[in-house]
Amino acid sequence: MTLSHAAWADGAFSDADFSAIAEILHQETGIFLGENKKNLVFRRLSNKVRDLGFAHFRDYVERIRSSAHTPERQHMISTLTTNVTSFYREPHHFKDFSERLLPGLLNRARRGERVRIWSSACSTGEEPYTIAIEILRLAPEAAKYDLKILATDIDPAVVATAQKGEYLWPAVQDIAPPIRHRFLTPSTNGAPLYEISEQARKIVTFRTLNLLAPLPFKGVFDVIFCRNVTIYFDQQTRARAWMQILKALAGDGQLYIGHSERVSGPAADKLKTNGLTAYCLADKAEA
Ligand SMILES: C[S@@+](CC[C@H](N)C(=O)[O-])C[C@H]1O[C@@H](n2cnc3c(N)ncnc32)[C@H](O)[C@@H]1O
Repeated sequence: MTLSHAAWADGAFSDADFSAIAEILHQETGIFLGENKKNLVFRRLSNKVRDLGFAHFRDYVERIRSSAHTPERQHMISTLTTNVTSFYREPHHFKDFSERLLPGLLNRARRGERVRIWSSACSTGEEPYTIAIEILRLAPEAAKYDLKILATDIDPAVVATAQKGEYLWPAVQDIAPPIRHRFLTPSTNGAPLYEISEQARKIVTFRTLNLLAPLPFKGVFDVIFCRNVTIYFDQQTRARAWMQILKALAGDGQLYIGHSERVSGPAADKLKTNGLTAYCLADKAEA
């Protein structure tokens, strides 16, 4: 029992409360919380439960059960998702993207063709902005083309942060200085903030989107980054997520996944690896 547990009456957070919260989170996001996450749930939600004036989690559970659209349910999703990310995270993907894929994609864009890239669990924006920076390094004029990065996440709070495009020093310190100087501007208000350049913002669009819900896209994507999100799903949900991604991938498209993930379920038969945690369709004719 943690110190903060001790401040609550016995039974204020029961196994049944934990199970109910875990079930709602799973239904909404696909995220699976094992029994070992009970303390984490308590730590992350107890202030909210108190702020709502509840002495027991069971009242909170009633509130989030009552409607899918309560602000409390949205808060719960934001609080229980893990949003860790960084610029140039798993740098081999960005090297592969820039060296192997981008020249061809830019040729297509210059011919007036449509090029689409999807960062499907973008968190606070470091991943899609890294993609934008890599594009602009090779093609500073990229905004003229029909070339766009769509960046989505289920959590509106991180999407709002991403949209701002402002980062504190620790978040940008590992970006190579010449790139940082070119694409991030130190804020003039004295706070150690760095703003993403206008150029990079122009080619990224942010949206809130659950990648397990029916996807609203008309077209497919040439490159999909789906990294470090399926690790939080159970096996069945993972298989569903990979099928969703597969549907959104162009016939000659490229998929990048996180270092500790692997494509599973029926999608695994339709994809083949073509690099470190990089995949393309096994049979391009099928797309
Ligand atoms: C650890 S971050 C990964 C960020 C980035 N892709 C990276 O690799 O650095 C995982 C993100 O997945 C998001 N997420 C969780 N479930 C999701 C779902 N069902 N649909 C879309 N995004 C989801 C979370 O909100 C979180 O921002």
